[in-house]
Amino acid sequence: METLECIKTRRSIRTYDRKDVPTDLIEKILEYGTMAPSTGNTQPWEFIVVKDREIKNKLFDASLKQEHVRDAPVLIIVCADIEKAKQRYKERGEKLYSIQNTAACIQNILLAAHDLGLGTCWVGAFEEKEVSTILEIPKRLRPVAIITLGFPLEYEKPRKIERIPYRNITWVEKYGKTWEFKPRPLDIQVKDWQKRLSELEKKLEKSKEQPISEEKESFSEKFRRIIKNITK
Ligand SMILES: Cc1cc2nc3c(=O)[nH]c(=O)nc-3n(C[C@H](O)[C@H](O)[C@H](O)COP(=O)(O)O)c2cc1C
Repeated sequence: METLECIKTRRSIRTYDRKDVPTDLIEKILEYGTMAPSTGNTQPWEFIVVKDREIKNKLFDASLKQEHVRDAPVLIIVCADIEKAKQRYKERGEKLYSIQNTAACIQNILLAAHDLGLGTCWVGAFEEKEVSTILEIPKRLRPVAIITLGFPLEYEKPRKIERIPYRNITWVEKYGKTWEFKPRPLDIQVKDWQKRLSELEKKLEKSKEQPISEEKESFSEKFRRIIKNITK
């Protein structure tokens, strides 16, 4: 999946197929989690992977009885190493960087899972102390998120969740000065589209042996039509 498409189409998934998630996929997802940026490359995160029904039930109780915590085939608890962050960056490390680093790691996990056809939900509403006790997490670690993971049920897939338009929340140079959107000149836009069309055609050419998805064909058709209309 293209990066931008992956970011745009990821949605929280809260109902899962019962089938288990193969270990190699879990490992791959965790590996991508560790590719996240971190302050001074400290990588102050650790993971606990839970599949055990009894432990999941306890975590369900500790997270406001959110059903996806109980029912997801896999839970990944992402912990921030507060001590590591504190040693290196004092109060800012402890209070801010540790959370920022872990959040970047969590987002990588969500995107990697989505790219691999899995669904996730970032669960932050839980009793931290209870979760630490259940999982016997040492004091230096703070559980930041429970990520529910599994294959999404079909009906969960195509959901659109509205976003606040970035122009409403973006200021130029100083807070309060609104963003003035200047569209790029048409001839530059046409050149861009032509480049993307030829790239797409090359891709289609390469995948001739394989069935081409309807989506790709219609995408290509759309480009052709736009360019035809603009350049005629
Ligand atoms: C820090 C954080 C905590 C969250 N906690 C929960 C949670 O406890 N339970 C839940 O179902 N979703 C939780 N979410 C998921 C959000 O509800 C979800 O991301 C948001 O509604 C946008 O939907 P989307 O992820 O499908 O784009 C959390 C998300 C974040 C970033």
